[in-house]
Parts: sequence; structure tokens; C-alpha cells
Amino acid sequence: MNTIPISQEPKTAHTLIRTQSYINGEWVNAASGAVFEVTNPATGEVVATVTDLDRDDVRRAIDAAYDAWPAFRDRTAKERAVLLRKWFNLILEHKEELARLMTMECGKVLTESRGEVEYGASFIEWFAEEARRTYGDVIPANTRDKRIVVTRQSIGVVATITPWNFPLAMITRKVGPALAAGCPVIVKPPTETPLTALALAVLAEKAGFPPGVFNVVTTAHNVEAGLELCENSKVRKLSFTGSTATGKLLMKQCASNLKKISLELGGNAPFIVFDDADVDAAVKGAMASKFRNSGQTCVCVNRLYVHERVYDEFVEKLTKAVTTLRVGNGLDGDAQIGPLINEKGVDKVKRHLADALEKGARVAVGGHELGGLFFQPTILTDATAEMIIAQDEVFGPVAPVFRFSDEQEVIELANATPYGLASYFYSKDINRCWRVAEALDYGMVGINDGMISTEVAPFGGIKESGIGREGSKYGMDYFTEIKYMCFGGIN
Ligand code: SIN
Repeated sequence: MNTIPISQEPKTAHTLIRTQSYINGEWVNAASGAVFEVTNPATGEVVATVTDLDRDDVRRAIDAAYDAWPAFRDRTAKERAVLLRKWFNLILEHKEELARLMTMECGKVLTESRGEVEYGASFIEWFAEEARRTYGDVIPANTRDKRIVVTRQSIGVVATITPWNFPLAMITRKVGPALAAGCPVIVKPPTETPLTALALAVLAEKAGFPPGVFNVVTTAHNVEAGLELCENSKVRKLSFTGSTATGKLLMKQCASNLKKISLELGGNAPFIVFDDADVDAAVKGAMASKFRNSGQTCVCVNRLYVHERVYDEFVEKLTKAVTTLRVGNGLDGDAQIGPLINEKGVDKVKRHLADALEKGARVAVGGHELGGLFFQPTILTDATAEMIIAQDEVFGPVAPVFRFSDEQEVIELANATPYGLASYFYSKDINRCWRVAEALDYGMVGINDGMISTEVAPFGGIKESGIGREGSKYGMDYFTEIKYMCFGGIN
């Protein structure tokens, strides 16, 4: 395995760097004057010092969004679509700058950051188009003198709490449909990656969104800010991506005013390779899905189940592919695997590994720390259901490979988790493909495909992986309320 040296980040003049929050069309500091640091996980260097809002500051952002709502909601869908389209164009025009910024604050390798800018922008483009298709219904009435009409109305102020693993795309996937539906938004980015969110605000301002419609609140007071966003009744909808534990807490907090919520939470994705699969295609799919963002996505493969007849062949080919991966600072163009986000992430990987080895797993490749927050991409063979790695979300570049012999057995193993986000399997038998796809207890199933994320399809999970869907034609539903109007006395 090749480890490329960690170079110093070139001090590029980023025109998109801001360190103040963006509220009501203005760049503002915390009333307290407090700040927090953003560090580059690849080098430990401080990238920027950002204003640290408290609960009262966040409340001011909510007030601004609430005041902006009536005028924004009353714009035509086409007017909102035009604004979104301008924003989309600006995001793509600044692709390189955004990508570098993202890599600096979250460590993701540059090629993936560039891909994320395109992926993130695609939600803005998609919902610019969907804005004008927020149709209602006319329902045949129950009596002759009535007419029944159903419309969809903007839900109101939307708060989004977004994760560090996709600093841009998880914002646009939520904010795109919200803005399309006429909802002002408050974006609370994570403490690790506020700069990409602020850069999006620079571009939203340039695109011409009215003051109060797009707000970014940066804070290290995560608990207090979360409480305000959940408990303030001016916020009508909360959309969160992050851990299942935090999702449960936010749901409880939102219960105080029955706020609508969308939750995109943890996963524990199985990846099944049947004995009739194209093994080379399965290896390619596993590489794409397992090692994206150094294994730090909620749709990353967590458990590889391989039929005993193709187990050795699959492990050999996967090991060979992993051996070629280059680990390094994401800003070095050749790196394919960046650092983990923080010490906690590295500790978790080490804990999983130690437990698996103690319970009989063997390392086919990798298995070591590389210093700082870097960890070797690792394949573990002879994994079993008793290992913690079989139950926990890994969120790192470690892939345990389990052996199975029977279709029903592997479906049961795959479903034996409280999570239900993404799942994958490889088979050339069309009957099996339908059978297994229908039997997997997951919101998303990749069949002979390891990369299922796209703006045109509904992203989301069942069980403890969340509530709601993002992207696609279904994405708008979560930012509108249905209104039924009954016209009586018609003759
Ligand atoms: C996530 O990890 O939360 C999102 C992954 C994706 O959109 O593909």
C-alpha cells in the first residue's frame, strides 16, 4: 500500500471563505463575541476561526426566517425556480473553490469533493424544476352542490441540521426542496464543517435570495442550538442527517410542538455476493461503496456476505484492489483515501478491529494506523455475527467479510439489525434479484450496483434509519402541507 506524504495546504485565496454567520441577509458575529476553530483533519492545522452563536442568536435567525416567509411563499413557483437555477449555476462555477474548501475542513479527497459539488448542485437543479410541479388535486365531490380541491402549501420555516461527512450535498438535498416550496431555511452546519455552508450562503446571496430566506447559523453550542430549533414553534419543520441517537433526541424535542420531522440516520448496509454473481463487478461495487469518503457515509457497505463457493475468489480480488489504494491528504491530487474526521473515529475503528481479531477474524490487508487520523483500508476475513463490527455502523475503511451458504440464511443475517437504510447484492439470476430485493428490510437496495445515490431517486431508510425521503419527486412532499378546500352551495 502506498502512503503519499502529507503536504502543507497551499494558502489559496478563497473568495468564498467567511467566518461570520449569515442571518437576514447580513454577515454577523455572535453577540457574545465567542468563536470556535475549524481544523483540517489531514494536518491538524487551524483552517479558520468561526463565530460561535448561542441560543439567543439562533432565535434571531428564526425570527428573520419567520418574517421572510409570507413574501417568499407568495412568490410564484417560477420566480423561486429562477433563483434556484441561478444558485445552481453559481455553485458549479465555483466548483473547484468549493471542493478545496470541503477537503480542507472534512478531509475528503479532492476527486470526491469535486464529485460532491456536482452531486450537491444536482439537488438544486432538480428542485428548481420540481418547484413548478407542486400539483394538487380535484376530487369528485360527495354531493352535487360541492367542489373539492386539494392544494399543497409551503410548510413554513425549515431548520436543517446537517453532518460533516457531506458538508455541501446534505444541505442542498434539504434546502433545495424547502426553497422550491417557498420555505425560508435555517442551516445549522456541524462544528467540523461550517465553511462550506457559509460558502453556499455567499453564493445564495449572489443568486439574489431575499434577506431572511437562507440563513446559516454557525455554533459549537450544538445542544442549545438544537433545542431552540426544535422547541421554537416558529420553525415548522426540522430536517436532520446524522446519528440515530441524535435523531431520537431531536424527535423527542420536536414533540413539544409536534413539529414535522425528516430524519436520515445511521445505517448498517449488507452487501451480498451470491455464487451466481459477476465477481469482478461485485468487487468494483464493493470498492465504490465501502471506501467512499474513507468509509464515512451512512450508505457505505458495513457487512460483506459472500457465498462460500466464491468466497476465496472474491476476497483475493478485493484484497488486490484495496492494495492499490493511496492514502493521503485529500489535497494531494493522487490520494484516494483521506483521514478520518477525528480521534473518536479512529478509536472506533481500532475498537472494532481489536474485537474482531480477538473473536477470530484475520487481516487480509491493512489493519494499521498510519499516524494522525489516517487508517489503512482494511479487509477482515472470517468475520462472524458475534463481532461488534457486525452490529455497529463502522464509519471507517474496514470491511469485514462473512461467509454464507444459503439464500434464506443470508437474508435473515442481512435483516438482523435495527437499521434499514441501504443494502446491496450481486446476482445474475433475475428471479433471485426480485426475491431478495423484496425480502431485504431496507429503504434502498442496490442490485448489481454499489453507487445508488442520485437526485432523481428517493434516498431514505426504514426502521431506526429514519423517517422520510430526500431527493426525487417525493422530496417535495416533506416541505408542503396538504390543504383540502370544500366549496359548498354550488348550483
Ligand atoms: C450520507 O452519508 O448521509 C449520505 C450519502 C449519500 O447521499 O450518498
